[in-house]
Amino acid sequence: MKTDKALNQGVAPVTYGEGSRPPRGDYSRASADYSCEQAWADYTDADHDTYRRLYARQLQQLPGLACDEFIAAVQQLGEPAQIPRFDAISERLIRITGWQIVGVPGLIPEEAFFALLAARKFPVTDWIRKPEEFDYVVEPDVFHDLFGHVPLLFNPVFADYMQAYGAGGLKASRLDACELLARLYWYTVEFGLIDTPAGLRAYGAGILSSGGELRHSITSSQPKRIAFDLKRLMRTRYKIDSYQASYFVIRSFDE
Ligand SMILES: [Fe+2]
Repeated sequence: MKTDKALNQGVAPVTYGEGSRPPRGDYSRASADYSCEQAWADYTDADHDTYRRLYARQLQQLPGLACDEFIAAVQQLGEPAQIPRFDAISERLIRITGWQIVGVPGLIPEEAFFALLAARKFPVTDWIRKPEEFDYVVEPDVFHDLFGHVPLLFNPVFADYMQAYGAGGLKASRLDACELLARLYWYTVEFGLIDTPAGLRAYGAGILSSGGELRHSITSSQPKRIAFDLKRLMRTRYKIDSYQASYFVIRSFDE
């Protein structure tokens, strides 16, 4: 898919995974690169409470299920009593790996996404799920993006991988190969597992930010767990609105 950033303003992007409704978000707020100000003052007490409860639930689940690198980095998100200010996290991130985070209204088109990653800017959705979506939200919200993605951006190896992915994505989008690259992202950055001496652990943001899938991905007998194989991964379609049927397992981040 090719997207013209200028023409795409105000329009929700196409997504490749199979889901039952279009992504939400107010795209009229976005500037040309799809970034927007974090509307921090607009968060309600209920929004902050949702974030605090999501954070608390995930944090206590991490030992034995999340990879050590993630557990070591998650404290960088700071005080979980409120939804963090993106600027405050960016200040710490810039010092450690040269990354920063920018607000976005929701999912953005691949080309805009790749361009931000290539510039070491990670797009973070600024709205938070409704209380009735506490257990599962289809689109990434601020909790998914911050809790799931941002900690590993403090890890130098992973931080460089993400930038390289963005740069590769810009090339792939000129070759109309975005869908394959979207699968790579899905099965690594979002739903990746890693084999460690202590056992299987999660490093994918979709798993780490999910109340149920974190334990499911590591302990359930239902899903297939496949040793990382790029060709097979590229052939494997995915769904965005249920637990994954397959996970790909890497042996190390260097892989
Ligand atoms: Fe994500």
